[in-house]
Amino acid sequence: MISEENKRELCRMAIEAREKAYSPYSHFNVGAALLTADDEIYQGCNIENSSYTPTICAERTAIFKAVSEGKRDFKAIAIAGAAEGAELPFKPCPPCGVCRQVMTEFCSPDDFEVILAQSEDIFTSYKLRDLLPLGFGSENLES
Ligand code: THU
Repeated sequence: MISEENKRELCRMAIEAREKAYSPYSHFNVGAALLTADDEIYQGCNIENSSYTPTICAERTAIFKAVSEGKRDFKAIAIAGAAEGAELPFKPCPPCGVCRQVMTEFCSPDDFEVILAQSEDIFTSYKLRDLLPLGFGSENLES
C-alpha cells in the first residue's frame, strides 16, 4: 500500500504529464505517472498517429519508458484523461484493455494500484486484479 501523500503526488504528475499529450485526432489528452519499487516516477502521455493504429496510450508510454531504463518492479500508476480543454476535476479515465494486459506483465495483480486521478485530491484506487480478473500471464504459457 502506498500512502495518500504518494497518491496525491502521482495524481499531480499524471495531470502534469497530460500536458504533453499528442492527440490531434481524438483531442482526448491522457497523462500517466508510474511509481517504481525504488520510488522513482516515470511519466507518459498518449501519442497518436495519422494511421491511427500505431497510437500508444499514456500508461504504456510510461511503462515502456521505465522498462527501457531497466525498471521492472512497480507499485502504482496514476492516470488522468479528459478531452482537450477540460477543467479539473476530470471524469475518471480507466485504462484500456491493452494497457491492463501490459500492466499484468510487470505488476503484481494483488499489490499494484491503479489510481484514477480526477484532480490532485480526488482519485479512486483499484487493485490490478479487480481491473483484469483471470489475466493471461507467463504461467499460462507453461504446459
Ligand atoms: N487513451 C490513453 O492514453 N489511455 C487510456 O487509458 C484510454 C485512452 C488514449 C488513446 C487515444 O490517444 C485517446 O486516448 C482516445 O482513445
